[in-house]
Amino acid sequence: MAPLILRPTAPAHGGAAVAREDGKVWLVNYALPGEVVEAEPRGRQGGVAVAAATRVIEASPHRVAAPCPYFGECGGCQLQHASYSHQLELKRQVVDEAWSRAGLRLPPEAPVLGMTDPWRYRIRGEFEAILHGGTWRFGFHRLRSHSVLPIETCAIHDLRIEQALPAFAQAANEMRLEDLQNLLLTAEPNGQGLLWRMRHRGRAPSWPRDEYARRVAELLPEQVLLDDAMTLNFWDLSFRVRSDTFVQTNYRQMLVLYRTALDMLGAGPTDRVLDLYAGIGTISVAVASDGASVTAIEENPRAVQLGRLNARINSARVDYLPGTVETVMRRIRLGQYQAAILDPPRAGCEPAAIAELIRLGLDRLVYVSCEPSTHARDLIALVRGGYRVRRAAIVDMFPQTYHIESVALLERGGA
Ligand SMILES: C[S@@+](CC[C@H](N)C(=O)[O-])C[C@H]1O[C@@H](n2cnc3c(N)ncnc32)[C@H](O)[C@@H]1O
Repeated sequence: MAPLILRPTAPAHGGAAVAREDGKVWLVNYALPGEVVEAEPRGRQGGVAVAAATRVIEASPHRVAAPCPYFGECGGCQLQHASYSHQLELKRQVVDEAWSRAGLRLPPEAPVLGMTDPWRYRIRGEFEAILHGGTWRFGFHRLRSHSVLPIETCAIHDLRIEQALPAFAQAANEMRLEDLQNLLLTAEPNGQGLLWRMRHRGRAPSWPRDEYARRVAELLPEQVLLDDAMTLNFWDLSFRVRSDTFVQTNYRQMLVLYRTALDMLGAGPTDRVLDLYAGIGTISVAVASDGASVTAIEENPRAVQLGRLNARINSARVDYLPGTVETVMRRIRLGQYQAAILDPPRAGCEPAAIAELIRLGLDRLVYVSCEPSTHARDLIALVRGGYRVRRAAIVDMFPQTYHIESVALLERGGA
């Protein structure tokens, strides 16, 4: 059979490039727009044929050699074969396309804020445990698969996380632990603490947790092993973070994201601001430290508990309303707040949450999103409800991967 030759022309969200051949659409992994590649079919995804490039016939000038030995097999990174400046350009095109499909125009002056050094940026990593030849190893799921690829290095994680993995594996092997499932590690960005949580199969761990932690700590003398909470500092603020609450995985870019969002919000000392999907209150406290009073809405009770503690630690005027945004907002009266900042998970806002935002008609909304398609969907709904998109930015929180973070400022009415 003749080899499949594809000529991708545009980036797709997900890291692949889109090619059209004889009227058929292909999503081609590990290819770049403008290239000619030989490819192998790899099934279908969302009704579209998928292929993987196996040989590059005509390379893009933006192609680089992927530095990771697992690139192409590991499901973690999709874009290591593109120069970093090109990754940023591809992400802009993906957002532009998502916005125009929704009927919006991404402001042409919207910046794409990348990293000076786009490696070793993750302070949190989740690793699957796998028995490999009778010994425990840690790794990631393979691309579009549930099987686990054991790894020894991962250049997008903080080096301390990479260095800790063999210690967790060695201690598990020495103690002949069973039923391990996955390991979550979070490294303190400005301290020596390493927060850990091991998930296991079955109901209760069949192994002595404290003894295990002691052995891992012995093997990691440079790090301070923490199993309850760790500290996250930024600007002159301090937060407690736990394994069961959300934290921005890219600490260096979190500072860029928050600065961008807070500048857009422009909250003054007399403003009352809603922080929706507030997590442990990092944004709430940062907004309150500029003088505004903040009401945070969050559904995860563990995050609410920690958020209240974080407000006290920083003497910040932040009140928490626990529950889902879509239900709690119903209790808010017109005129109580001037602005809101919202940072929902990938699924975006429930239609009821959008309806509540439109009902309240706040002057300014800053919408932070980690998924361009739901961002665009919710933004157009807000535009139809009387808002206008005034500014936007893309902040690269996830270099080497397809994930995209974008921020938009909406204001009510006006020309
Ligand atoms: C992307 S995180 C943002 C956290 C925070 N803004 C930050 O920067 O750390 C989303 C948060 O929304 C919460 N969440 C998810 N769905 C929710 C809902 N329907 N109502 C309220 N909170 C929700 C999650 O528990 C999580 O803490």
